[in-house]
Amino acid sequence: MSQSLNEPQREPRTSAAALRYSEYPREKPGRNQISEIAASFRYTGRLSAIPADSVSATLFIAPLHCRMSAQPSTPPVRMTVPRFVARKGQERLSMVTAYDYATAQLLDLAGLDAILVGDSMSMVVQGHTTTLPVTLDEMIYHAEMVGRAVQHALVIVDLPFPTNHLGPYKAVEFAGRILKEARVQAVKLEGGAEQAEVISALTAAGIPVMAHVGLRPQSVHLLGGYKVQRDEERLLRDAQSAQDAGAFGVVLECIPTPLAQKITAQLQIPTIGIGAGPHCDGQVLVYHDLVGLSEGPLPKFVKSYGNAREEIIRAVQAFREEVQSGAFPDTKQSYS
Ligand code: KIV
Repeated sequence: MSQSLNEPQREPRTSAAALRYSEYPREKPGRNQISEIAASFRYTGRLSAIPADSVSATLFIAPLHCRMSAQPSTPPVRMTVPRFVARKGQERLSMVTAYDYATAQLLDLAGLDAILVGDSMSMVVQGHTTTLPVTLDEMIYHAEMVGRAVQHALVIVDLPFPTNHLGPYKAVEFAGRILKEARVQAVKLEGGAEQAEVISALTAAGIPVMAHVGLRPQSVHLLGGYKVQRDEERLLRDAQSAQDAGAFGVVLECIPTPLAQKITAQLQIPTIGIGAGPHCDGQVLVYHDLVGLSEGPLPKFVKSYGNAREEIIRAVQAFREEVQSGAFPDTKQSYS
């Protein structure tokens, strides 16, 4: 099969953000500044649909890009399912959730291997206490924004509760809608052994599936809470059955480190851990937890690499104070 058949077909795009601001009057940059920025776009090969000589586009994207300019000059290769699987035992995989265009674009620029439109959206975006309320239409609406932003990472979308429990036929219909309407590459579903028939129907239909075993948040009521899962026999069977049915990867959530290590060694497909210790083939975190946007207390397995919540409150408070005092806008933000 030629490589292009593996790659999602996309129209060349100009960044929506660049278009949004392209009509606004702005300070004219110096000639050198423009060519430097334009050259740096060609250098990284990222965001290549933005015309290198477009002043407004380059000015808008420049601050983002500048943080990336220390990256190697080789253009990133689009992550595909076979490439993802081939990373097992080679190089660890990183995956983070995203639910909108702007965030997904940043995550992709940061070089992640996979972006998950997780049903955690129900909690971190919609404010529910579980992942159960989010609907298929809502998942597709958000996945479409993410799919549109991402040019490098593999985009995987959760099948929301209870779309994978209505039989293989319905699962193919719902997952098919996700791939067709959101133009993403794969789906994830919670379950292992009892989902084998569904996983095999989806893969037979050409839909790549990532399974999710251990703590399955959609089953929170049955499990009696968000608890570490320790039934070794069941977890080994779930992960093995998911692989045998055709899954290309499996999320291991909240299971003891030695058990995750054992499952990882047993499988030929990558395991992606969340609260499953360091021996998995990759790790996933929810974006809001990773950047420090979530309200605490957070689960033990979360590591926050930033404090976005404090930073946003600080910035908005500064704006409010400057509006009140009359310091904003000053002549720099005003037209003569
Ligand atoms: O919905 C989600 O964000 C997830 C990850 C926690 C794996 O399923």
